[in-house]
Amino acid sequence: MAETLVVQQADKNGKYEELLPQIKSLVEGETNRVANLSNVAAALKMTFDFFWVGFYLVESEQLVLGPFQGPIACTRIAKGKGVCGKAWEMNETLVVPNVDEFPGHIACSSDSKSEIVIPIVKNNSVVAVLDVDSNQLNDFDHIDATHLTELCTWLGTVCF
Ligand code: SME
Repeated sequence: MAETLVVQQADKNGKYEELLPQIKSLVEGETNRVANLSNVAAALKMTFDFFWVGFYLVESEQLVLGPFQGPIACTRIAKGKGVCGKAWEMNETLVVPNVDEFPGHIACSSDSKSEIVIPIVKNNSVVAVLDVDSNQLNDFDHIDATHLTELCTWLGTVCF
């Protein structure tokens, strides 16, 4: 198992291109979901210094807080509520440039300014979401959406 990440590119797209293969080799060979999702959250946090990175897992028709990096967060989110619950309900990646303008946004921290949420799908059902928060407005774009969606598509096949 790789014990360090090497990400030398300066631009965001290059960082994702370097990081994703390393995440895949970190996760391959380990079957424990908590261990793997924990390392994915840590790898994203280390590389991009996001304010908050973590997973919410579908359990009994709710999202329940899973492995994450960042400040403490709300533990349960109902379907359709907040950005996470909406991404789950719609089975769609949601990019929110300004969380204050998203109806029903759940503010776990007032420092969070923008957000991206990507569903993780297994057998055509959403089983979890990846939630990434920034303390900067408008911090996520199609580059994040493309690479994080690729990551989550892959996680749906290997971790769930
Ligand atoms: N803001 C999210 C809640 C989770 S925290 O950001 C970690 C939402 O509106 O669903």
